[in-house]
Parts: sequence; C-alpha cells; structure tokens
Amino acid sequence: MIRAIVLAAGKGTRMKSARTKVLHEVCGRPMLWYVLRALRGAGIVETIVVTNDELHAEIANFGVRGVLQDEQLGTGHAVKIALEALDPVAGARVVVACGDMPLAGEDVYRDVTAALDGDAAMSLITVKMPLPSNFGRIVRRGRDIERIVEVRDASDGELAIDEMNAGIYAFDEASLRDAVMRLGNDNAQKEYYLTDTVADFVGRGRRVVPVACTDHRHVLGINDRVELARARREMNERLCAQHMRDGVTIVNPEVTYLEPELTIGRDTVIYPNTAISLLSEIGEGCVVGPNTRLSNARIGDRVTVRESVVTDSTIGNDAGIGPYAHLRNETVLENDVKIGNFVEIKKSKLARGVKASHLTYLGDAVIGEDSNIGAGTITCNYDGKDKNPTVIGKNVFIGSNSSLVAPLSIGDGAATGAGSVVNRDVPPGERVAGVPARPLPRRNPGSELLDGVE
Ligand code: UD1
Ligand code: CA
Repeated sequence: MIRAIVLAAGKGTRMKSARTKVLHEVCGRPMLWYVLRALRGAGIVETIVVTNDELHAEIANFGVRGVLQDEQLGTGHAVKIALEALDPVAGARVVVACGDMPLAGEDVYRDVTAALDGDAAMSLITVKMPLPSNFGRIVRRGRDIERIVEVRDASDGELAIDEMNAGIYAFDEASLRDAVMRLGNDNAQKEYYLTDTVADFVGRGRRVVPVACTDHRHVLGINDRVELARARREMNERLCAQHMRDGVTIVNPEVTYLEPELTIGRDTVIYPNTAISLLSEIGEGCVVGPNTRLSNARIGDRVTVRESVVTDSTIGNDAGIGPYAHLRNETVLENDVKIGNFVEIKKSKLARGVKASHLTYLGDAVIGEDSNIGAGTITCNYDGKDKNPTVIGKNVFIGSNSSLVAPLSIGDGAATGAGSVVNRDVPPGERVAGVPARPLPRRNPGSELLDGVE
C-alpha cells in the first residue's frame, strides 16, 4: 500500500497575497490540483494534505483529507502531524510531495516509489540545477548519499554543490514514523527538517536511494508571482503541444491560453489571442479565434467562432458566430444557426437555421427553425422586477429595430415591421407593425414597413 502526504501549510509569504500559495492558479487550476492529479496518476489512491487555516476550509473541494498544522514548525513537523492522522499499516510506503510543484508529472512520483525497493528506508528525487539555488544540497560520500544540508546551514563548499534535493520522497512508513520522532530543530531556522531523516537513516546503516530527475524545471517549486508566470507558460506549452499532437492546429501557442480537461477535435484551427477554459468541448473542423474566449462552451463540428465570447453555452454543428458576439448563461444554438456582429444572447434557445446577424439582444427567448431576427432587434425581457420569456415560432420574420416586449409570443410564419414595438402576442401568420404594433391587413406584400436588413 502506498499513501501520500502533501505538504502545503506554508503561507507562501513571497506571493504577497491574501490567498494561500497552493490555491493560486496555473492555467485555470490551483497548483495543488496538479499535484493531486499527478499522485493519482501514479496510482496513489489515498492522499492527506497538511494544511493551514485557509486551505483547510477548502480542502474537501479537492476530494482529499486535510490535517491542520497550526504552527509551521518545519517539513519534519508537518510530516509527523500527517502520520499521526494516518492509521499505521504494516509494510506500507509513504510518498511525500510539496503542494507548490504543479509541473511535476506522475512519472516523478512513479520513479521515486519504484526506487524504494527491498530494505531501503527512503528514496528521494535529486536534480542538477544551475547555481545559485535555494534548494537543499545533496552531500555525498563517494557514491552514497550522506545527508542533505539546507542553504541556510551550508558552508561555502556545500553551497557549491549543484545536486539538489527536489523535495519529493518515498519512505518505508514504519521507518519514517521512527525517524520523525528523533528529529531536532537545532539549525539556522529552528525548524524540524524532514531532510534530516537522510543522515539519521544513513547513521543507522539504512539504505537511502537517490533517483536523478533530468529536467530541473519539472521540480521547481513556485514561491513568487514571477515563478507562477513561468510555470503557467510551461504548463500552457504542454497543453498546447498535447492538442497539436492530437491534430489541432494552434497558430501561435504563445498567445493561446488552454486549461487541462479540454476536448478539441481534429482539424480545428485556433487563431491567436484565444482562451479556452473550464470544461469546454470543441468538435472537429472548427475555426476558433482570433480574440475569442470560450468558457465551459460545448461546440459541435465545423463551427466558426471569431472575435467572440461564449460562456456556459452550447452550439450545434455548422454554426457561425461573430465577429463580436457574446453568448452566455445556458444559451443553446442548434445546427446551422448564424449569429453575427454585436449580438448578445443570454439564456435562449435558437432552433436550426435561425439567423440573428446584426446588433441584437436576445434574452430568455425561444426561437423556432429558420426564423430571421432583423438588425437591432431587442427582447425587452426585464420589466424592472422579473425576467420574462419571449417565444418566437418557426419561419418568423422580425423586422429591423423591433422591440419585443416580454412576456410575448409570436406565432409561426408571423412578421413584425421595422421599428415596431410589439407588446401583445402575435398569432401565427399575422403581420404587425407600428408603435405599439398593430396587425396589418393580410396579403400585403408591398408594405415597406416590413423591409429588413439581410
Ligand atoms: C525544502 C527542503 C529542501 C528542498 C526544497 C525543495 C526541507 C527542510 N528542505 O526546502 O531541501 O530542496 O524543499 O523545494 O524540507 N511546509 C509545511 N509545513 C511546515 C513547513 C513547510 O507544510 O512547517 C510545506 C510548505 O508549504 C512547502 C513545503 O513544505 O510546500 C516545503 O517547505 P519550505 O519551507 O518551502 O522548504 P524549502 O525551504 O523550500
Ligand atoms: Ca519552498
């Protein structure tokens, strides 16, 4: 059995933030989220996080247990507290990770656990890194690790060592339980260092196994907002690369902002300055961007979304959106819908083939197949107190600059004249015009009031 302890109680002073460090986001997810995902990916099913007050209040959202460390007395103290909260299991192993290392992938955790073989007490990830560095130094005697020395306690000779302790370990649980009881805090920071367990094990003739990690960028912790931005760039690059390898064209990954857990179909092309977030799903052969934001958007195949914002909405196949459209709040567009310039749609359902091409607001509306919404149409859905629905049938022609005063229903095949203020229901097939709109005589195709903009 392998369990994990994630150290995350540090306040992260250098972030200069009211928010605890591991809750700061990298590509739309808290740093801690990535660490927990990597541990799960490495096959570790049970994780406990050492928290501070703020993190403790939110830890349940991550689907893991937390244990509160009131006072941050050091990494050794943090691990001791976590072990006290875990029932001892004979023969179990424990991985210790840091909550501020979102770039470490599951392979690092797999490697460190795989190295803890036979009678080894401990394995740890070591990494060569350019100097100067704040990481603890790996002090070796011959080939073997002797101890780890923290920067604040190191001699000049030790500071010249370029092999670092990454801060990722696996332990034989019983040995770790013994060792943390023996830790002292007689050092420059007056902290209980987890890293002192190395010298402790070595002094007792126990085996400590180093595992070299070849890319130090994967095990960099994030301590300030400069490092946060660097991590975001690295993560975004990985996300873009993954989608490009899966058949998505990203014209410029440096200015395309992705998050984990997105679905993007083959042969979709993403133009610059586009951000795609939350659980967005995009089909095949779409064109997205430039200058577009999709957040929790579900988009079918062969859809074009240019210079537009789509949040919490669904778009069918072969639809065209933008430029400069805003779809939001559970809007649903069926196949072949065309939404054009400066159109805002909120919580509305547009059936197949509906067109709203220019300067329109549709809110709380349901619109039937193939209806055309003229330029400048506004659903007046808010009466100052309530949001009211507008129901428009199939094949309806709404003339330019119509104000549709909700609640309102307009029947199939009906039409409104340009500039109408429609405040009473319109039966199927009827044509209305004026302020307020009144029925026009039937079969009067010559009426210039009905001219719309195509
Ligand atoms: C630690 C290691 C160092 C290693 C580096 C890698 C120790 C003593 N040193 O140094 O050898 O190179 O990580 O990043 O372990 N934390 C708690 N409770 C505490 C103290 C820390 O939860 O009482 C957490 C922090 O939130 C952080 C992690 O433990 O996530 C590391 O602690 P930090 O104080 O940053 O240790 P470093 O000085 O970075
Ligand atoms: Ca640190």
